[in-house]
Amino acid sequence: MNTAAANPGELAGKHLVIGMTGGIACYKIAELTRLLTKAGATVQVVMTEAATQFITPVTMQALSGRPVYTSQWDARMPNNMAHIDLSRGADAIVIAPASTDFLAKLAHGFADGLLSTLCVARDCPLLVVPAMNRQMWNNPATQRNVAQLSADGIETLGPDSGPQACGEVGDGRMLEPEAVYEAIVSFFAPKVLAQRRVLITAGPTFEPLDPVRGITNRSSGKMGFALARAAQQAGADVHLVAGPVTLETPWGVYREDVQTAQQMYDAVMRAVPDYDVFIGVAAVADWRVDHIATQKIKKTAEGRVPGFTFVENPDILASVARLPHPPYCVGFAAESGDLDVHAEQKRVRKNVPLLIGNLGPQTFGLDDNEVVLFEAAGSTKLPRAAKQALAQTLIAEIARRLPDQSIIS
Ligand code: CTP
Repeated sequence: MNTAAANPGELAGKHLVIGMTGGIACYKIAELTRLLTKAGATVQVVMTEAATQFITPVTMQALSGRPVYTSQWDARMPNNMAHIDLSRGADAIVIAPASTDFLAKLAHGFADGLLSTLCVARDCPLLVVPAMNRQMWNNPATQRNVAQLSADGIETLGPDSGPQACGEVGDGRMLEPEAVYEAIVSFFAPKVLAQRRVLITAGPTFEPLDPVRGITNRSSGKMGFALARAAQQAGADVHLVAGPVTLETPWGVYREDVQTAQQMYDAVMRAVPDYDVFIGVAAVADWRVDHIATQKIKKTAEGRVPGFTFVENPDILASVARLPHPPYCVGFAAESGDLDVHAEQKRVRKNVPLLIGNLGPQTFGLDDNEVVLFEAAGSTKLPRAAKQALAQTLIAEIARRLPDQSIIS
């Protein structure tokens, strides 16, 4: 599960109505509101009376920076049209937590309070984030209501499975605030990779010398993980093959961890027939030792230093590009000088249509990056940007270049 913090500016310009209904999960909405506002969204909180039993409007007002509304008779609205005005200009209404009772109200179009009336009178998308006891969730009436909401075009996020406030274990737990945040960001992302399957390698590899030592590099994996997140948000099915990194798995992404270049090669070759885009972001070690010592290599009394013989690792990107029916292949290259020459030569040598070059390795581990796209038609420099924003731009650039879906088998 991704617990990455919100990216500043990611939801800039978005206005969300967060509708809270009664449930212990109300406490999670404090954190969700913080994440949304940190990402640049404006948040208007509306609470049912029941929700105010679990967390106070004062807390939600402090976190959202806006007055909280609980009643349609609120005299603060000059025209007494809170049920209309509060959702006008909203990009979405998110009901979180959504109680059993509120799902039933929504499914049947009830308008018996401010929040339910807002939902009926809305002209924007509606998302619901259920939170309830497992038996309430599994109740046929609730399941019927959720199916009706889906048929009405209302998106349901979650619920999660696991321990519940009542002490029972099962389905019905509200998604964690970070997951709801990710789902909301995803909801707004243009679906430029809908129906596409994207395989990505990321991070360094680790080539052992003995049971405790090895050779690796300073790749943090941030760029590859950012691309995986952006591809998932763009609607793709994403499989991320990751070397040893300390990053959380992006929400909705299938992750496979590997250590060595050979393991990364094997994982990619197993998966690749099912994918129509391959993005090699990993900083794959070019060599490994031909014999890994089975015992820790010890210092000798004579001070003799160990010697190693290296063998070349398989080139994953070039191998994928050589397949009889390769996916659309994208390479990355960090060069320490002469980027234009080295990157274009590498693109041609590996036979890939697109190679993204940057003057690294000074960008390893940083949160931003500046890249140049190399392709047969020439090169295009993109402005320096935070890795996550850059990842979204790169995903859009890759999507534009994909062959028409109809001709992919
Ligand atoms: N790559 C790969 N497998 C390898 C080496 C590299 O898949 N064994 C991929 C990387 O993921 C990246 C691209 O090839 O997309 C370029 O990586 P880079 O390390 O710059 O290429 P090398 O072929 O190793 O070239 P150099 O001699 O500059 O190290």
